[in-house]
Amino acid sequence: MLGNFIYYNPTKLYFGTEVQKNLVEALGNFGKKVLLIYGGGSIKTNGIYDTVTSALKETGKEVTELPGVMPNPTLEKLLEGIKVARDCDADLILAVGGGSTIDYAKGVAASAWFEGNAWENFWLKQKEPAPDQKVIPVGSVLTLAGTGSEMNGGSVITDEANKFKVGKVFGDRLIPKFSILNPEYTFSLPKNQMVAGIFDIMSHIMEQYFSGDDDSTSDYLAEGLMRSLIASSKVAVNDPTNYEARSNIMWIATWALNTLIGKGKTQDWEVHMIAHAIGAYTHATHGHALAAISPAYYKFIMSFGLHRFVRFAKVVWEIPSEGKTDEEVATAGINALADWIKEIGAASDVETLGVTEDMLDGIASATILGGGYKKLTREDVIRILKDSFKK
Ligand code: NZQ
Ligand code: ZN
Repeated sequence: MLGNFIYYNPTKLYFGTEVQKNLVEALGNFGKKVLLIYGGGSIKTNGIYDTVTSALKETGKEVTELPGVMPNPTLEKLLEGIKVARDCDADLILAVGGGSTIDYAKGVAASAWFEGNAWENFWLKQKEPAPDQKVIPVGSVLTLAGTGSEMNGGSVITDEANKFKVGKVFGDRLIPKFSILNPEYTFSLPKNQMVAGIFDIMSHIMEQYFSGDDDSTSDYLAEGLMRSLIASSKVAVNDPTNYEARSNIMWIATWALNTLIGKGKTQDWEVHMIAHAIGAYTHATHGHALAAISPAYYKFIMSFGLHRFVRFAKVVWEIPSEGKTDEEVATAGINALADWIKEIGAASDVETLGVTEDMLDGIASATILGGGYKKLTREDVIRILKDSFKK
């Protein structure tokens, strides 16, 4: 562990099936006026809405509802939420849904009482709310395991008009104060969304794992999480209501991106930058966009971090190394990743996502971060995208 860091995470997690009881306890710590934010209506068909509203009733809250948060929430929707949150003078924002709903809730919470252009200030300029600016506390009930939004400050918003999807990672004040994690709530997810969540988790771990050269405890933690994720994913794709597998996946998702396994390390995140650019052009589901480009990206950078790709192959995929060169072992590890993508049913190419040749130039404007084993050029991004078309 070579880096200096502070680790603090304020989210109180309630894990398991006693949601109403947990929610009643958590809601007791906040004022009367609650802004309830949710997505396109899945919580009304699977019964989650009834449980949540009954806890809100039991605690005597005055509730304002803000439904309709779409996957990859838009700037236009953010502006609507800012107005609603101000008008109802919310004491708490309760987000019930997946990453989109929770990300959006944080965006509204940060922006509602900001005097000025919130999009420009928080997302484009990446500023934090001033210490004297009011920020509304956020709590969440998670319904999709993947993003880690339930225990981090991430808030990804898309400016549709300008084809620009931007992630802002807010500081402690916007990290949910509590999150309720009931693995059973993920049972109603369509398989396509479950798989997207699973690959998103894998990608979060890899983005933090494929960087640095020192002996870091964070990397050993990452390996354990990846091994557990792979094992549980294989159970869950065949038996989606297997509580053990779904509970493992939910717990891994939270630890994959609550900043723990990135501590003391440089980090990559280039796959996410390219996938966000793909999302801005195609509205592709986040996890599938990551899956479609990951094998090509990692093959492209493999030789620049060969030692880590050899370790990934041996430890995570249990590839035997006898009689093989390091390049052969490392390549076998990335091939195992590609095979797993196919096995669980995540996207294996960018055409499936709706990417066409004429979009490549625009997608290649993806932000280049340079924290991984190779800092890409624009031409490199185009080459990786071309390598991610159907073979
Ligand atoms: O809108 P509803 O009706 O809720 O339906 C959703 C949505 O259609 C559905 N769904 C969620 N839970 C369900 C369910 N359907 C049935 N049963 C359930 N239990 O699933 C669809 C996708 O939901 P969404 O919230 O969009 O998915 P996800 O959790 O993958 O979030 C994706 C967003 O998070 C951002 C992504 O860029 C994307 O905008 N990310 C946020 C991060 C963070 N906060 O740190 C990091 C990630 O890398 C990611 O960028
Ligand atoms: Zn992600």
